[in-house]
Amino acid sequence: MELVSFGRRRSLTVLLLMGASLQGLAAPAPPPPCPEVAAALYAPCAACHGNAGAGKNELSSPAIAGLSEVQLVRQLRHFVTGQRGAHPADTNGAQMAAMAKTLPDDAALKAVACYVARLPALTASNALPLQVSGGQVNAGAKIFAFCAGCHGADGSGSIAVGAPGLVFQSDAYLLRQLQAFGQGWRGHEVNDEPGIQMANAAAWVREEQARRDVLAYLATLRTGKP
Ligand code: HEC
Ligand code: HEC
Repeated sequence: MELVSFGRRRSLTVLLLMGASLQGLAAPAPPPPCPEVAAALYAPCAACHGNAGAGKNELSSPAIAGLSEVQLVRQLRHFVTGQRGAHPADTNGAQMAAMAKTLPDDAALKAVACYVARLPALTASNALPLQVSGGQVNAGAKIFAFCAGCHGADGSGSIAVGAPGLVFQSDAYLLRQLQAFGQGWRGHEVNDEPGIQMANAAAWVREEQARRDVLAYLATLRTGKP
């Protein structure tokens, strides 16, 4: 009798543990909520980046949904400090730098990053239409084999490396950023490890044609059908 009840209790424990770990797999702990002001702080951003954070081609504003919280905080701080968007020829960066400086303090900057990081990631159906033409998919695929080391073979980015996803980003914005890294507008500060990594990688796409090629290949990753 004693033995039987012991056995039952043990199998119950095992079942409970299995249940707990299955539950853990199915539903990871939800991220902590953002400060209450976060949504109000995002309202002016939506004018350029849209409610879903998909960006707007007509305003040259990129997608920001899908970026990690760490990436968002880092970029917003770069705009505030002038590490990004300060080059006289970087008119789009200057526009965003002015906006970042309207955030009252670093706590507000982190709150709005929290809000954006929790927007649903973009998909082929709500990403901005492609604008860049003239690229060769096959040549781009060869170049992207190198990029994939950091941005992933599917172009979805890597949190560990700090490399953002590229597939559902505005291609016109990506083209400009490859130029920005190539010209040292981004990734020029000694403390900016991720930026320096990318500035070095931009050497692989020094030619305008190579940039268009790699964007043509990235476009095929939107549907998974080159
Ligand atoms: C007047 C239009 C405008 C408004 C308003 C605006 N942005 Fe931007 N934002 C831009 C443009 C243009 C860029 C691209 C800058 C570049 O090309 O380097 C940008 C870039 C960014 C980036 C960099 C994206 C990346 O992939 O690195 C982030 C993050 C961002 N904006 C967040 C915000 C947030 C948060 C707000 C509100 C506080 C905001 N923006 C308000 C126009 C705007
Ligand atoms: C060694 C790792 C590494 C390699 C290789 C690499 N990248 Fe990056 N890339 C990064 C990191 C890290 C960032 C983020 C930089 C930052 O935060 O300023 C980045 C950012 C970018 C951005 C800007 C995205 C944005 O939202 O503003 C583009 C575009 C880009 N990479 C394209 C490429 C392409 C195309 C290649 C191949 C030619 C490539 N990368 C190769 C690490 C890499």
